[in-house]
Amino acid sequence: MHMGLVIENLDESQNDRIELISQFLLPCFQKYSPDWLPNKKAALNLIMSTFGEQRRSRVALGENGHPIGWIGAITDEDVWEIHPIAVSPDNQRKAVGKSLVADVESLARSSGAVAVWAGTSDETASTSFSSIDLYKEPGRSFENIETPEDHPIQFWLKMGYSIVGVMPDEEGLGKPGIHFAKRVV
Ligand SMILES: CC(C)(COP(=O)(O)OP(=O)(O)OC[C@H]1O[C@@H](n2cnc3c(N)ncnc32)[C@H](O)[C@@H]1OP(=O)(O)O)[C@@H](O)C(=O)NCCC(=O)NCCS
Repeated sequence: MHMGLVIENLDESQNDRIELISQFLLPCFQKYSPDWLPNKKAALNLIMSTFGEQRRSRVALGENGHPIGWIGAITDEDVWEIHPIAVSPDNQRKAVGKSLVADVESLARSSGAVAVWAGTSDETASTSFSSIDLYKEPGRSFENIETPEDHPIQFWLKMGYSIVGVMPDEEGLGKPGIHFAKRVV
């Protein structure tokens, strides 16, 4: 865990924080989800979508008080979904992501939920999920998983999440979604 990291609610009145988050979202998703956030407007829309009903939006602040990481959650009675999570490129691999996931897990647990799930995808045909016909043999994709060492799939496995599902074409033709879940009670 990142000691001393401050994680707070983000709300729609916090224009400066929203602006800074939108700036780091674009480079974050360029490598593995190149079409997902094409421009700043899409990034701002994504942030605004986390202020609705049954949503949580949490921001991690660096030493100067500026946002260095951000996580959204879709709440529900029993299972919450993390969507999305991003840590600014300069602050990655310093346990900020891990702390944000732990923060949402703790909020979920205190609200009575029992599990948290998250999805990622293979949009660049860079993992073994793209080399299997997921309509014919979805179960086989759970075995002998291969990904680049910096793929977000590896982050979720490190966080103790299990692969519980695959959705062929979730992000478009030949771009499967991979679903992870963890029990938090
Ligand atoms: C994925 C992401 C949120 C992780 O945040 P982070 O602050 O860099 O992660 P942490 O430092 O807390 O890492 C926790 C563990 O996961 C590992 N890890 C983190 N990112 C990883 C990655 N991309 N690939 C492989 N392992 C990763 C770390 O090595 C660490 O392992 P350790 O506990 O053995 O030391 C961040 O890299 C990011 O914003 N990436 C771009 C956006 C993205 O891919 N979001 C997720 C989409 S589902």
